[in-house]
Amino acid sequence: MRHPGWVVGLTIAGMALVGCSPSPTPTGSAAVPESPQESKPSAPAPVQVQPGMVGAQTPGVLSVDSIKAETLPVAKFPALALAQENLRGQVLRQLAWAGEKRIEILPAINSASKDAIALLVEIKAGDASRYATIAYDVASNSAFNPLAMIEPTKWAELVAAVSGAEGGDQVASALSEQAFPFGNAPALAFAADGSLLVLGDQRIVIPAEQITPMLTPLGRKLQSGAVKPEKAEPPQKFSEPAPGLTDSREASAAPTASPGQASPAPTASPTASSEPSSPRPRISLGPDCDKLKCVALTFDDGPVAETTDLLKVLREKKAPATFFALGNNVKAHPGVLKEIGIEGHQIGWHTVTHGELPRLSADRVRTEVSSGPNTLSQLLGWAPVIFRPPYGAHNAKVDEVIKANNMANVMWSVDTKDWDKSRVQGAELTQAVVSSAVNDTKPGGIILLHDIHGTSRAAAAPIIDQLSKKGFTFVTVTELPGWQHFAWGRTYCAAPSLKATCF
Ligand code: NI
Repeated sequence: MRHPGWVVGLTIAGMALVGCSPSPTPTGSAAVPESPQESKPSAPAPVQVQPGMVGAQTPGVLSVDSIKAETLPVAKFPALALAQENLRGQVLRQLAWAGEKRIEILPAINSASKDAIALLVEIKAGDASRYATIAYDVASNSAFNPLAMIEPTKWAELVAAVSGAEGGDQVASALSEQAFPFGNAPALAFAADGSLLVLGDQRIVIPAEQITPMLTPLGRKLQSGAVKPEKAEPPQKFSEPAPGLTDSREASAAPTASPGQASPAPTASPTASSEPSSPRPRISLGPDCDKLKCVALTFDDGPVAETTDLLKVLREKKAPATFFALGNNVKAHPGVLKEIGIEGHQIGWHTVTHGELPRLSADRVRTEVSSGPNTLSQLLGWAPVIFRPPYGAHNAKVDEVIKANNMANVMWSVDTKDWDKSRVQGAELTQAVVSSAVNDTKPGGIILLHDIHGTSRAAAAPIIDQLSKKGFTFVTVTELPGWQHFAWGRTYCAAPSLKATCF
């Protein structure tokens, strides 16, 4: 071992654990006693701050058979809530599509302060366990993967530090991948003494004195919020993200375009290795929709019993979708709603009775909208972050109520008119719906469909096949590019990054 100061933990991920739990908690008391040869000190545990420090109290739970997904209610911090939603959905989808039956998703707060919050999510699948981190900047309401904690210029130093640790080679090579669960990169978290834990195939510890100089301002805030947690509160108004809180690709694109000027600061320490220095990878969370042609399929007015047929198609095609659920149908088919959630699709709210909101009394609007968070929290353990008004009908008063209920208003960019049976019906209608979805969709688009109609459910498979052939990638609504800029009560009809004018 080249760096004797480091302590290396036991392998916890990617393999079955047979009676040798590295868990720092005393719950594994039946474990085999450690042999004297293996008496090296174990890695410290990640800090777990009381959820009350971020105003979250207890997590909600979705539990079906051997699948348990917890969600911390963090709606005071919108981008953190969205990032948690995207991460949970992505994990559930991947595991459902892989046929995994035993799943646990356990979010915890690793760091809290007035400036920053780190959410550390433990993901257990079968006998394996691994982690994902969300690093959140309070002032600018921005969520990132944990690499946002590391200075771009110190990137090579971190990689060298990790690969120098015992068993660290694999962890170091995974560091450059996209953050788990969107890629395979390890999670980063802090221990109570300020040391950094790199949670991959091995648990690598980088002592505080070594990691501190490598941290960005956000990283240092998170470190101090782990060593000495304090209560987090959102500001009156969120600011623009600080310089440096952008992706390395954006940050590095500008200087290379002007070769005549003085060269910018080096992107990596030249002393680290003889390898050409590679820049810090992307710090955005979620699918890379700046590169991919992302599109969101949305299904309104369900769930109905036949929605399960649609779920089978989506599973077979490995395509996520977003469902805007109607309260009355949720009441009639609560099991189907849970199945949608367990399969990792996104669920938004679509009122209780499908009333036209601008025509209803203020009291009635409040009931129609606020039932969403209550009803869905009870069934799923999480409140919806997105809302779609019936008929797309809303006004400033309705938007205020949506905002008060911590949801963003989501319309569409492609109306397939799958609800209109006045011109064609049956297979002809299905064909018309497929043509509209395939021909009218642009990257960042949101496609409107209704899972209550058999003709629309039949359109799902050909739409997915044909749009895939055109190079589109399916994502949920809040994975569309620019989702970090969703604000409660605001209206979107396509990817927020497109800044489309909506109705
Ligand atoms: Ni509707």
